[in-house]
Amino acid sequence: MKFFADTAEIADIRDLADTGLLDGVTTNPSLIHKSGRNFLEVIREIAAIVDGPVSAEVVATHHADMMREAEVLKKLGDNICIKLPLTLDGLKTCKALTAQGIQTNVTLCFSANQALLAAKAGATYISPFVGRLDDMGQDGIELIDDIRTIYDNYDFKTQILVASVRHPIHVLQAAKIGADVATMPPAVIKALANHALTDKGLATFLSDWQKTGQSIL
Ligand code: G3P
Repeated sequence: MKFFADTAEIADIRDLADTGLLDGVTTNPSLIHKSGRNFLEVIREIAAIVDGPVSAEVVATHHADMMREAEVLKKLGDNICIKLPLTLDGLKTCKALTAQGIQTNVTLCFSANQALLAAKAGATYISPFVGRLDDMGQDGIELIDDIRTIYDNYDFKTQILVASVRHPIHVLQAAKIGADVATMPPAVIKALANHALTDKGLATFLSDWQKTGQSIL
């Protein structure tokens, strides 16, 4: 399973990239707003830090304008993945960009039928939002399960990029289903490494080691 960071914060991206565990980055207009940075500048910077795909989202709502925006965004780096909303215009744009060999991430997916359309449009990634479904009393992870079944039934190559991930349990459930990617806030990626018994065990090992009076170096 690949791990993407869902953020436009450069310091967090550098920090995670240094661990060697980061496979890509996703952004959206809200994250750009939160960063306070210039969209084009920050995407160019992220694309230079990370080897994997960096999703940059169009803000136009009509196909022709989306194509024009994609033209600008794709020049920001070789690893730019154009993020498009799951609308008919977004799907049409997805199909056209796919035909040009450009990576696409179809976002704001809340149903399995929407995911089916994105796959038919040739999307590289489909982004179902699990947390936002949970928030309204639906089961976000059940959607991931449905999409996995449908994509496997027809051997669609579109990768399931689980988005709106709020906690490590989402990651565990998505991994058990076989989702291809999880995009997560940096804090969730870091939280995956935490366990109280790891901390407690390490403290004991270190204190016992001190008592030996030895050193490795
Ligand atoms: O990038 C899309 C997605 O991950 C948004 O998450 O927490 O705003 O629902 P959230």
